[in-house]
Amino acid sequence: MINKITSLAEYFQKYQESVADPEGFWGKIAESHHWHKKWDRVVDWRFSGPGAPDVKWFVNGKLNITENIFERNMFLRKNQVAIIWEPNDPKEPVIKLTYGELFDKVKQFANGLLKLGVKRGDRVAIYLPMVPELAIAMLACARIGAIHSIVFAGFSATALADRVNDATSNVVITSDGGYRGTKSIPLKGIVDEAVAKCPSVKNVIVLKHTNEEINFVNGRDVWWHDLINGVSTENIAEVMDAEDILFILYTSGSTGKPKGVVHTTAGYMVYAEYTFKNVFQYSDGDIFWCTADIGWVTGHSYIVYGPLLTGATTIMFEGVPTWPDAGRFWETIDKHKVTQFYTAPTAIRALMAQGDNWVSNHNLSSLKVLGTVGEPINEEAWRWYHALVGKGKCPIVDTWWQTETGGIMITPLAGITPTKPSLATLPLPGVQPILVDPEGKELKGNGVEGILCIKFPWPGMLRTTYGDHPRCFQTYFSAFPNLYLTGDGAKRDEEGYYRIIGRIDDVINVSGHRIGTAEVEDAINQHPKVIESAVVGYPHDIKGSGIYAYVICEDLTDAELKTIENEIRETVNKFIGAIAKPDKIQIVSGLPKTRSGKIMRRILRKIGEGDATNLGDTSTLLDPGVVDEIIDGAKVAVKR
Ligand code: WTA
Repeated sequence: MINKITSLAEYFQKYQESVADPEGFWGKIAESHHWHKKWDRVVDWRFSGPGAPDVKWFVNGKLNITENIFERNMFLRKNQVAIIWEPNDPKEPVIKLTYGELFDKVKQFANGLLKLGVKRGDRVAIYLPMVPELAIAMLACARIGAIHSIVFAGFSATALADRVNDATSNVVITSDGGYRGTKSIPLKGIVDEAVAKCPSVKNVIVLKHTNEEINFVNGRDVWWHDLINGVSTENIAEVMDAEDILFILYTSGSTGKPKGVVHTTAGYMVYAEYTFKNVFQYSDGDIFWCTADIGWVTGHSYIVYGPLLTGATTIMFEGVPTWPDAGRFWETIDKHKVTQFYTAPTAIRALMAQGDNWVSNHNLSSLKVLGTVGEPINEEAWRWYHALVGKGKCPIVDTWWQTETGGIMITPLAGITPTKPSLATLPLPGVQPILVDPEGKELKGNGVEGILCIKFPWPGMLRTTYGDHPRCFQTYFSAFPNLYLTGDGAKRDEEGYYRIIGRIDDVINVSGHRIGTAEVEDAINQHPKVIESAVVGYPHDIKGSGIYAYVICEDLTDAELKTIENEIRETVNKFIGAIAKPDKIQIVSGLPKTRSGKIMRRILRKIGEGDATNLGDTSTLLDPGVVDEIIDGAKVAVKR
């Protein structure tokens, strides 16, 4: 069992310990896990030099993460509920799986995967809605040493195909369809379209969920229920190396296609459990609900791995916050007596806009801790969440972290760290943040603002980007020698608390989802009438940032001009998915470029923000006239 920090003094003491002796600190924590063979060294690392980054935790340790979820806890937790599944339609029955039941299902499906020929090290793509089988599939992969690569089921066929091909997955696991509010999404149809472009795929496993008609490809497709029919629930876990890959998860960056962030077994395991238990101060009997989708890292670490390693009861919610009505979250908290609730600021803002009655009508007295993740939370939303949802009694943990960090990095400890609205506060033990200026010079002391980097490894950090190690170095370790670059700007206030300001690169945080501007531009440029485009973020009341696209088209007729915007949105929907559709599109005749042909995004951002009065130095522009035209057009775009 990992011990929880219980006071602020203890936090400071542990923090000091973790910096003075990281090996002793993490080694002690990992003692509580089940190992087939203990490690030789706690950490071996290098952020620079040939082949960097080279980071290994619990070197030569042997284990299986599912044994740490199941076998390690089984005596204690066999009959305790592991997963509560809340369906899209609240009138449908809830499913509760105990640790014993979940374990059997994981072992049985693991045997099914083995029967199909899935081997240790194979990459299995999972494209499922938020159903218990999603957790079962990922744990079954981990059980047999296969690498899961979960793709959020809102991504398009093209985006899915890109990810399946990058990881050369041989199996895709999906369902006939998935529900989101009143909509049903034909997931199998999307998989069929994707897999047509994926030569590595041998089998598609299909879960029956919505019971809609599907196209069944004999020889390739296998029904989930057929695969496990008559299959044993006995399974011995594959013994993995500490540094064997546990999963790949694709995420957007400032350039190029999404990269496959690689997390390995032991470090991720220790970090997910440690952070879950401490940040949320989980105690036996608590009911934890993280509203994220498992298709994102938040769901990986704080719906599945963190809670299940801790032996917690975790909720999986299939639906959306506004269906059947805007009280769904609050109704569900009351229904399952949720004690810790973890969601995104964008959801808080959207629900805040629906009026207080939706919240006040429900009994939320079970709540002890509230959390936020994914984007900066504005003070107004923080205060509303605190007063109305938490009744002024529940601490809010504003947790800063990333797909690459594997788990929470900077955050209050619930009820222990004094909070301030919209500040992520202090680093967890083991996390060594540093702020630097654009030249990489450390900004020492308090009351400074700069680029947020991390100067020492932590167990949950990414090890590489799948299939392209140099890209990992280039993206995260090349800007400043021996520092991990987060891509975020941050301020350290007079008290030493961190406030995350937001991305300093060409990544936009839209409703807490990371969207690369280059990716959206690539998608827009697929439209046959588009010559060039530039995408920036702009402040959006609900989404945090909206997507603003400036697009140059070939000559358009009046009729084409009327439809082009929707066509561009549809093109983005086709190549990425609905989450990346531009909120504003402005057709322009030119873009502000320097004489060397570089688009000056700074200017487009300013115009997008509605702050065109102070554009800074525009003297290097090739054609300054184009800026006035864009400013005029923006007035129209902003009104839309
Ligand atoms: C942003 C999500 C402010 C940040 C776990 C980061 C935040 C990106 C916070 C990672 C927070 C995440 N306050 N900003 N509490 N949490 N972010 O990879 O810009 O989807 O770099 O991981 O979200 O997004 P990702």
